Amino acid sequence: MKRFAPIAFATTIALFLQGCAGWQSALDPKGPAASELAWLIWFFTGLCAAVWVLVMIALALPLMMRPRERAEPLVIDADADNRKLRVVLTAVALTAVILVGLTLLSFFANRTLAAIGSDAALTIRVTGHQWWWEVRYEDATPSRILTTANEIHIPAGEPVRLLITSTDVIHSFWIPSLSGKLDLIPGRMNVLDIKADKPGVYRGQCAEFCGAQHANMGTFIIAEPREKFDAWWNDQLQPAAAPMSDEAKTGENLFLKRPCVMCHKIGGTPAGGTVAPDLTHIASRQTLAAGTLTMSRGNLAAWIADPQGIKPGSHMPVADLSGDELNAIVAYLEGLK
Ligand code: CUA
Repeated sequence: MKRFAPIAFATTIALFLQGCAGWQSALDPKGPAASELAWLIWFFTGLCAAVWVLVMIALALPLMMRPRERAEPLVIDADADNRKLRVVLTAVALTAVILVGLTLLSFFANRTLAAIGSDAALTIRVTGHQWWWEVRYEDATPSRILTTANEIHIPAGEPVRLLITSTDVIHSFWIPSLSGKLDLIPGRMNVLDIKADKPGVYRGQCAEFCGAQHANMGTFIIAEPREKFDAWWNDQLQPAAAPMSDEAKTGENLFLKRPCVMCHKIGGTPAGGTVAPDLTHIASRQTLAAGTLTMSRGNLAAWIADPQGIKPGSHMPVADLSGDELNAIVAYLEGLK
């Protein structure tokens, strides 16, 4: 049995460490900011672990030693007292040096993070809502300004500046594989610079409790080669695709007659609501309801039919639709690529 203990231990540790990899992990960095932070995390952890082990050894040694018997218990031993004082003073000095050292490391890491986006060519405004993300691409040409939701496409290998704020409560923007956290605060604009070294999809999560659906406030960074990113941006600027079938055409008419238009925008149609996600290209996104459901016809129908069952407390109301009406609206929305 004893022989298997080390194997069992190693297997357990390996299984735990497996959880540190993947598309949402601060310990699996995919950009310069996350790499700097991961290095800092490991250094702090290693140093603090070493200090803890030393303190435990210093505590255990005297406990294990047998007390020496003194010939004259009441006589002050000046030499021994001086030795103890030196030990204590050395420990205090070492503690101070370590704390100052760690503070300096944090300071310089912060400077490195701040320098990442100083030459960013792309600025994206990210606004937190209960419980989704509004994403607006800024451009000097007003007709190229693009608003979308929950998925943030960026060019890989290029620094991107995110201007982040909130319309309701405090949220926190966190893409662990790419950068540290930063709060989205109503009435205040915070700046977060990110860069993805390579193309890929990185998951993010609201990291500040913001109400009932805080846990269902996911986001995705999709880093692509420059040409692919530009093509995506140009596609997204196009008005919504016209309905291709009679059912989808019926769906469009229903959508425009129902309260959907009070909150949602669909470019190229009279639907111009701005308090909920822009649906112009909803079917091009990978998820629904801020990462709650994967994008599919079935999930679109489920979300419209029962938003309060899927995401209780969300601001998406239940629409009063017959089965045929629901099918028609879903047929229309799934064509909005
Ligand atoms: Cu938004 Cu938690």
